Amino acid sequence: MITHYSDVQLHTLSIQGVKQIYKERLHFPIIYESSTFIRFQISSYATLSFKEAYTPVSPAHVAFQVPYSLFYESASFLSQSHLLLLQQENGEYIDDENGRRNLYFRDGDGHLLEIIAHERVDETVLKPLGDLRIMYIREVGFPVASVPVFREWLKNKLSMKTERDQDVFNFVISGTAHAVVVSKTRPWIPIALKALPPRVVVTFGTPDLSFIKELGKKVENAKWDSHLLCFSKEEYAFQVQFTPDLHKDVPAQLNLPF
Ligand SMILES: [Fe+2]
Repeated sequence: MITHYSDVQLHTLSIQGVKQIYKERLHFPIIYESSTFIRFQISSYATLSFKEAYTPVSPAHVAFQVPYSLFYESASFLSQSHLLLLQQENGEYIDDENGRRNLYFRDGDGHLLEIIAHERVDETVLKPLGDLRIMYIREVGFPVASVPVFREWLKNKLSMKTERDQDVFNFVISGTAHAVVVSKTRPWIPIALKALPPRVVVTFGTPDLSFIKELGKKVENAKWDSHLLCFSKEEYAFQVQFTPDLHKDVPAQLNLPF
């Protein structure tokens, strides 16, 4: 099974601009850098990457899971970063209800980012990293023409699951990885941002080599590239990486459903 997002690669118009935000303001360590690419370590088992390209940016949605008890520390660090924080629909910045806290913000390319915490997630399992206290990448957004078609593909090929099936907005989950599958006609909250499909390369991690081998037979156009299984679906590029360091029991220890 897929346990987590091990890397998410976003599109940028400026690597220098990315460094000003992610290194200087958010304090993420750089683990690789070239003239058109940069990669940050953002949690113990996840990296966030940016590829520079001369083409318009469609904002991506990515959410970072932080510990519930440290949420306000993480939010306070974010407000001191002078990044653009977004008001929720009720005018407040932080939404705190029913054991869930979140705060939205944007980076220099306009990507829609979020810190989110859930009271039910066990905080002792994964060590939070950095000033944002990130435990893992929880969400990546996938605006699509048909939510049912993309959802069923994720279920059938990647063995991801849903708590319930919905036609306009659906979480499709495996481990800590939540794919937010939304209709292109449904704007992103909290600012009714048009849901353009972003240029992303999403890398999933699994400690199960046989899962990757089976997947290679199931998906169309699968290719191996330096130990990664690579394939695409609609506008989205996917990779699957063998990550034995993150044990398959971690999602259950965190109290996650799948
Ligand atoms: Fe979200």
